[in-house]
Amino acid sequence: MAEFSDMKKFVEWLVPDENIKHIEAFVKGFKLSTSSYKRVMHLLNQEMNQGLMRHSQPLADIKMFPTFVRSLPDGSEKGDFLALDLGGTNFRVLLVRLQGHDIDIQSKTYLIPQRIMLGTGTQLFDHIADCIGKFVRDHNLSGQTLPLGFTFSFPCKQEGLAKARLSKWTKGFRCEGVVGEDICQLLQEALKRRTNCSVEIVAIVNDAVGTLMSAAHVDRNCEIGLILGTGCNACYMETLENVQTWDEEKSHPDQVIINTEWGAFGDNGCLDFLRTEYDRELDTFSINPGRQIMEKMIGGMYMGEIVRLVLERLNMEGLLFRSVDNECDLFERGRFYTKYVSEIESDTDDFYHNTKQVLDEIGVENYTTEDCKIVKYVCTLISARAAFLAAAGLATLINRINKTDITIAVDGSLYRFHPRFHNLMCLKIQELVKPGIKFKLALSHDGSGKGAALTAAVSLRLRNTKVIPDTLPAMSELPVRIGIKQKA
Ligand code: GLC
Repeated sequence: MAEFSDMKKFVEWLVPDENIKHIEAFVKGFKLSTSSYKRVMHLLNQEMNQGLMRHSQPLADIKMFPTFVRSLPDGSEKGDFLALDLGGTNFRVLLVRLQGHDIDIQSKTYLIPQRIMLGTGTQLFDHIADCIGKFVRDHNLSGQTLPLGFTFSFPCKQEGLAKARLSKWTKGFRCEGVVGEDICQLLQEALKRRTNCSVEIVAIVNDAVGTLMSAAHVDRNCEIGLILGTGCNACYMETLENVQTWDEEKSHPDQVIINTEWGAFGDNGCLDFLRTEYDRELDTFSINPGRQIMEKMIGGMYMGEIVRLVLERLNMEGLLFRSVDNECDLFERGRFYTKYVSEIESDTDDFYHNTKQVLDEIGVENYTTEDCKIVKYVCTLISARAAFLAAAGLATLINRINKTDITIAVDGSLYRFHPRFHNLMCLKIQELVKPGIKFKLALSHDGSGKGAALTAAVSLRLRNTKVIPDTLPAMSELPVRIGIKQKA
């Protein structure tokens, strides 16, 4: 795998060799200058301020939702918790057993069929309740009232730790009758309708927040959570003074985690200067045209499709796969998955083993080594732009927080499986942050499950000790570490 110690080397490596130079006209839009990324940062910072100010928040694209999470676990949390994780194509139920400093997790993954993702809210929550009922039965948990933490990875306006109204659907979901509703209430009602389970929903958290929560207990410098998965989003710790939309008492601690929902950056057209014709086409055919513009240039739900659109175009121009069958998946929307991009870019020699496997899988026949080279080059350009955009977003947050040492907790399949995403982001962040700031990107393990359970646990502990009933206390006050023991 090519490793790059600095940006210059990476850019040099990106210059195509003589043979594939003729495709440049169709891909040059993905190569953005450093000044473009700086412009992105400037705009993002402005839009974040809009989201934090009371008068502009309702119309702001970047919602900057205060989460009511104001701290981290301290290691004294004990007991059994249920956690739910909804946000991608799968739904997970977890049993999290906190034993002092150890955490034991058992989980089961259930598929959410597309008809449910695009059906009614009642169907969705009934399905979720059925899965929980089954899980509780299978784990002999009936008869107990279990506290539950729910990672719900969609934009929500929180009115409390366990009260969150959906502001809009994102990613592949569009269930009727849920926008504006309290997610906890919908779940409680479905559980009552469909099961005998007795659960108490204690906290609802975004996946970015869960990721931050779960990583921060092993790293006190961790103040940003980033998701690079199906979607893309970030959260960070903000001082209350900067959060005009915080309606609660400004009691100690004077900070709260903000769920930025930055995937919607660009919805007002401010990123049009860098979007390509492929981005526009992808958007037009998506289930939410005009929405989640930044997310559509980064997230795993979209990146493979951008690659496919470019490959399709190159083929139409007679520059790639000279004899390819019309029936081939290359011409079908959504059939080129982002995992293919990671696989293709993992090829390290001129045999193109993975690339060939992907081309076989999508039904391209008679490809040449030259074709493989072009396919890999296209993937490299599109994933580098995604990594650099995410880096520009992080650099904006790092500069805002303005501490000398900062850790960013990262989770999501794109970050985990792409061979160079981490390195590319580090190179770009280095180029964009204020001089003197040291940063680290740390993989956060199972933030969605563990983070939600820990948030629920802390909330209960605080409630029992009657400290700040509906929020969690300052990160800086809570130094204790928790060790994690995962069961397969
Ligand atoms: C989408 C959702 C956001 C979530 C992200 C990653 O952007 O709106 O809430 O955090 O995907 O899953």
